[in-house]
Amino acid sequence: MTNVKALRGRDFITLMDYTTEEVKYLLGLSRDFKSRYYQGDRYSDALRGRTLLMIFEKPSTRTRVSLDVAATQLGMHVIYSNPQELQLGRGETIADTARVVDRFVDAIAARVYKHESLVEMARYAVAPVINALSDQEHPLQALADALTLWEVKGRLDGLRVAFVGDGDNNIAHSLMVIGAKLGWEVRIISPRKYWPTKFMESLTEDLRRTGANIIISDNTEDARGVDAVYTDVWVSMGMEAEAEERRKIFRPYQVNSELMRVAGPQAIFMHCLPAHRGEEVTDDVIDGPQSVVWDQAENRLHTSKAVLISLLT
Ligand code: CP
Ligand code: NVA
Repeated sequence: MTNVKALRGRDFITLMDYTTEEVKYLLGLSRDFKSRYYQGDRYSDALRGRTLLMIFEKPSTRTRVSLDVAATQLGMHVIYSNPQELQLGRGETIADTARVVDRFVDAIAARVYKHESLVEMARYAVAPVINALSDQEHPLQALADALTLWEVKGRLDGLRVAFVGDGDNNIAHSLMVIGAKLGWEVRIISPRKYWPTKFMESLTEDLRRTGANIIISDNTEDARGVDAVYTDVWVSMGMEAEAEERRKIFRPYQVNSELMRVAGPQAIFMHCLPAHRGEEVTDDVIDGPQSVVWDQAENRLHTSKAVLISLLT
């Protein structure tokens, strides 16, 4: 069994860098944190005296608040900043920024436009760098998604998840990564232009090892029989210039009652949020009995605690 020590000091930029055992370890720990939370055991001194710096280039509700609360409940001090408030906004390089703040803080969580910015930050900071969302991946979200599926379906193995919509965005990518680690069948149902063909190449080894299967399709009928239907916005942060085109192309991929009927009554509905109601999902689905989106959002707190404690102790 993996122990906390094996994760200490590591970056958390992509779950590709974590073994299946390590991912399961983080999920188990998240479950422990959640159960303790409901027994009233919310605060600890485990990371007292440590500081988390958050640098967010883009807006955030769930990631920002859950990380801040998770860190606070573990005893940490948290500093939040956007690049405009730092010299980064006036041209100081990521490398120089990382070298400096690394002397002050114990972990850096960053939300960036370019995934390479995280890699660059990690190259120059000894402290763990945590991906709080990039254009390529959102591993904190994927952990919360897996925890939610585990709770609702009662198992982590052999799950079948259909991601419907923008198949080549950060959320779809991280779902594929965690699915590949855990041996799931992930069906990406998306217009051909947005198939994650290139990203999939990086998963070949995990797919072979775990027997996971990634199916790519442009047909919403392929959501039939899955354990979960997952969607995300059609226009991710940074893609605003393509908004009009995207809204047109993705229209047939809206998750509505008809799509949920195709998927079947066993299918839960998932969304990382924020949702654009009336676009990628209708009100009746997101507010309906199959929806687990609020539990999914809550799980961001418990999984963030698991990540922080594992990287820092
Ligand atoms: N799901 C998620 O990461 O939401 P925020 O953009 O609000 O952090
Ligand atoms: N794909 C979305 C996810 C938001 C949490 C975006 O990047 O804007």
